[in-house]
Amino acid sequence: MDHQQLLSLLRQMTLDEKVAQLLQLATPFFKGADDAGMITGPMASLGVTEREVRNAGSVLGLSGAQQVIDIQTNHLKHNRLGIPLLVMSDIVHGFKTIFPIPLAIGCSWDMALAERSAEIAAREAAVSGVHVTYAPMVDLVRDPRWGRVMESTGEDPYLNNLFARAFVRGFQGQDLAGDTDRVAACVKHFAAYGAAEAGRDYNTVDLSERLLREFYLPAYKAALDEGCEMVMTSFNTIDGIPASGNAWLMRKLLREEWGFDGILISDWGAVKELIPHGVAEDEAEAAYKAIRAGVDIEMMTPCYVHHLAELVRSGRVDERLVDEAVLRILQLKSKLGLFERPLRGADPEREREIVFCEAHRSSARELAVKSCVLLQNDNEVLPLAGTGKIALIGPFAQSGDILGAWSWQGAKEDAVTLRDGLAAAGLDASRLIVAEGCGVDAPATEAQLAAAIEAAGEADAVVLALGEHAWMSGEASCRADIRLPEAQLALIAALKPLGKPTVAVLFNGRPLDLHGVADQVDAVLEAWFPGSAGGAAVADLLLGKASPSGRLAMSFPHAVGQVPVYYNAYNTGRPNVPTAPDHYVSKYLDIPNEPRYPFGYGLGYTTFAYEAPRLSAAELRADGELTVSVRVTNAGRRTGEETVQLYVRDVAGDVVRPVKELKDYRKLVLAPGESAEVSFTITEPQLRYYHADLTFASDPGEFIVYVGPNSRDTAEARFRLTSTV
Ligand code: IFM
Repeated sequence: MDHQQLLSLLRQMTLDEKVAQLLQLATPFFKGADDAGMITGPMASLGVTEREVRNAGSVLGLSGAQQVIDIQTNHLKHNRLGIPLLVMSDIVHGFKTIFPIPLAIGCSWDMALAERSAEIAAREAAVSGVHVTYAPMVDLVRDPRWGRVMESTGEDPYLNNLFARAFVRGFQGQDLAGDTDRVAACVKHFAAYGAAEAGRDYNTVDLSERLLREFYLPAYKAALDEGCEMVMTSFNTIDGIPASGNAWLMRKLLREEWGFDGILISDWGAVKELIPHGVAEDEAEAAYKAIRAGVDIEMMTPCYVHHLAELVRSGRVDERLVDEAVLRILQLKSKLGLFERPLRGADPEREREIVFCEAHRSSARELAVKSCVLLQNDNEVLPLAGTGKIALIGPFAQSGDILGAWSWQGAKEDAVTLRDGLAAAGLDASRLIVAEGCGVDAPATEAQLAAAIEAAGEADAVVLALGEHAWMSGEASCRADIRLPEAQLALIAALKPLGKPTVAVLFNGRPLDLHGVADQVDAVLEAWFPGSAGGAAVADLLLGKASPSGRLAMSFPHAVGQVPVYYNAYNTGRPNVPTAPDHYVSKYLDIPNEPRYPFGYGLGYTTFAYEAPRLSAAELRADGELTVSVRVTNAGRRTGEETVQLYVRDVAGDVVRPVKELKDYRKLVLAPGESAEVSFTITEPQLRYYHADLTFASDPGEFIVYVGPNSRDTAEARFRLTSTV
């Protein structure tokens, strides 16, 4: 439909029909649903009428080609003006072919593979009838207690921006109308949901506007710059006002300043939650505040359908606000081609062919290989290629629970377990002994422990498959103690006296406190929740068929008492300088300030030597550019991939500046003895930041450039910015 036709459709709608268009309901509300779909929030009774359901604009948590066809067909039969439903679902890291969790994808630093994962997720979802995915989630995260860090690509705004763009490109492609293998993307959770106090989900967020703009907002903006169609509000407050009723955030910043003209949807129940937040007395006031703030679709609470028409009739709300919201929804429906083809990509036959097909699973395996991070490899215990007998012990040895949260359609039974991966790589029963050891959080029984000790005793090396249940991270799954469950720590301790070379492989959704793990074993491979092909990917790495190349997108703390700990922090007035110890400095008495493993960190099966970085000039003019060059050599015995990282520090700003900020990186694959020259270009716009008055500009003065394999182990060079624009 063209714009005029959409306007004419809007004019034909009654006020009640328009308001119902703003309602989004979960699958069980629709007749013909043969399963409940995905329930991702509280299912309190909404008190919506049959008529409101018939006129609802969208459904969430629905998929399955035949089911979508049935529900859409039925909906169109009963909808007076024949307005199709928009089908939205959480396709976060794959549909049925599950890719590694986004935090793991973040560790790949690989935008092409990230884009491909979203493209495949879109293809599988679209053929199963989905039109919109609630992804990407781009909340910047600094607190591993928060269960939803697993959905984010980490703590760095630059990396998050690149991933936000890559995911949007992958989901949406170039032509949503013509390409029915793509789905519209919905960036979330606007804004700063990742900064929940104390890492507790749904908790207060209170940030200065500068911090918000500098660290938290850029990734949402990047997604929108890439053409992302929708935005979802966050559950939290921003400066005392919940996002879903925050007119400054939504109307002023998102719509007016950034020019966003797509659909803004509330998170599940977030409009009505304005009441418990304490900014609305009742549903009517919640509806009033949300529509004024600019929320177009209310997900799973009935404040709009119960009160918006009356608010318009009484003159409290201008009907134009409702019209604008409805028009945006109709526009997306039109852009997706739903008026012409309301079933869009839904195709049961093709669904059977392509969903979870071999090609998709092989992409998932490739990305899983790139997402694992080797944290420790003492005595070069890895790879295990030449090792005789291997004892694979632990609750994740044979578990398919390696998909992670938000893998709705993914089936654990379909996942390649580590045991299966090792067996497929050629380790038959004569070389692979398997024992469960203990439960994820259930202590070992006597028999389990005896079997584990016997297996380890017989083996030349032990691989411990450890981790968190998938439900221990994700929404509403925060932990105050982020160590491995006690049962697994006890298992490690029980096997330690055998003195076998030991590798811990971790399947989990957040950076952990690795006390009792890293200090007890030789090697630690962080596999995260690696998805459908996880066991095969980890086997490739353990056996040296592939080399680990992942780099942490989020720091691993020493202990939870350090949290939040992140690399791009401020220096303080009393920094702790290890070479000049003093009592009255910013430090802990009992642990280091630094994380156990910093942002950007990760080992491989070879080592790289860096020469000192060289600058093309000592000064940078605002209209010029500066080249930073560094020679990197593979100093080890195996071919390996290195991620050369460039950081910058502004020595003295108008406001304090982070000690390091990632500005660029390059990936290199080098054979043993091979070297390469890596060059980065620095220009003045990369040095801009938000000043005290929130102007975005650079300052003339001294800058330090750092180059290295991670955010800690860097070498530096200095230059001066001589003029600003
Ligand atoms: O998309 C999600 C969101 O991330 C958390 N609440 C429920 C939504 C819809 O499932």
